[in-house]
Amino acid sequence: MSAADFKCLLVSQENDAYVRRVERRSVDALPEGDVLIRVHYSSLNYKDALSATGHPGVTRRYPHTPGIDAAGVVEESNDKRFMPGEEVICTSYDLGANTPGGYGQYIRVPAGWIVPLPNGLTQRESMVYGTAGLTAAMSLHRLERHGVAPGSGEILVTGATGGVGSLAVAILARLGYSVVAATGKPDRERFLLDLGANAVVHRNEVDNAGGRPLLAERWAAVVDTAGGNILATALKSTRSRGIVTCCGLVASADLNISVYPFILRGVSLQGIDSAECPMPERTYIWEKIAGPWKIDATDALVTERTLETLEPEIQRILHGRQTGRVVVNLIEK
Ligand SMILES: NC(=O)c1ccc[n+]([C@@H]2O[C@H](COP(=O)([O-])OP(=O)(O)OC[C@H]3O[C@@H](n4cnc5c(N)ncnc54)[C@H](OP(=O)(O)O)[C@@H]3O)[C@@H](O)[C@H]2O)c1
Repeated sequence: MSAADFKCLLVSQENDAYVRRVERRSVDALPEGDVLIRVHYSSLNYKDALSATGHPGVTRRYPHTPGIDAAGVVEESNDKRFMPGEEVICTSYDLGANTPGGYGQYIRVPAGWIVPLPNGLTQRESMVYGTAGLTAAMSLHRLERHGVAPGSGEILVTGATGGVGSLAVAILARLGYSVVAATGKPDRERFLLDLGANAVVHRNEVDNAGGRPLLAERWAAVVDTAGGNILATALKSTRSRGIVTCCGLVASADLNISVYPFILRGVSLQGIDSAECPMPERTYIWEKIAGPWKIDATDALVTERTLETLEPEIQRILHGRQTGRVVVNLIEK
């Protein structure tokens, strides 16, 4: 492969449908930017599946190459912070949204989007985490800053078999927290226990439809990926002075709740915005991921695919049926 001609997953709009094909493109078609990166690994996030299927809230212009995560090697750089040959990670910002992303063997991006690959992580391992892992780790960072510690009590993780959820379960368990994993996939209980969850509950148990403003206090903290009534239920059942992090909307983008959890129990609701995570915090989180928060990336957690074999995984994640993380291998054999 030469940099002039590389492989990518190209999503095109044809009539009312969005069609995905593996094609070859030229680096000349990439946007202006400081650093050209040869991508070796990417990953699959829910947002990638939305971009790959024409969701206008993620991607406005097609044809487009999704992939909000990329790990690879610097090929050319106009910025003295990055030298050719250096291993790097690029996630979030506009990558894979309206900038051609990690489902191409080359990306060209601003230097301000790039993190040097930390010691202790391979490129592939960094994509086991990707945006999902960064989000899970940011959530944990917020819990720690709030004073939540392994002895504080039970931590609920919702959407627990998903990318963010499974990594949150694994990292929290690795650090000795007592984790309750909520899932809509009861057949994946063994998977969640193997990740380190202390208990597994059905999603319905943390989705209270009763309409009461407060529920019995249970959680020291919650890492929520679902939104909607699951997030509302989490806020109502978090203990006094506890914290709930909110990153996702797979259940719903709406939040219908009274102020009582906030004004009677002092519960905090903390938003997680990994796409715009400032670089000092981003670098700090990646160092944690590569060091004390590093988990065992078992075969049960990680599925590896190529651009040619990614389509079923896109459909699976779109329909909430994905388990763990999908790493995309772009290394040409
Ligand atoms: N704010 C940020 O910075 C940020 C970053 C990354 C991701 N996100 C968001 O976080 C969410 C999760 O992302 P992800 O990449 O982890 O996706 P994912 O791998 O698809 O995981 C989502 C999980 O949520 C559960 N779920 C699916 N449909 C549901 C429903 N209708 N009601 C309740 N739970 C449902 C499923 O787990 P179970 O079957 O185990 O319940 C599913 O596996 C998405 O909304 C994504 O956009 C936000």
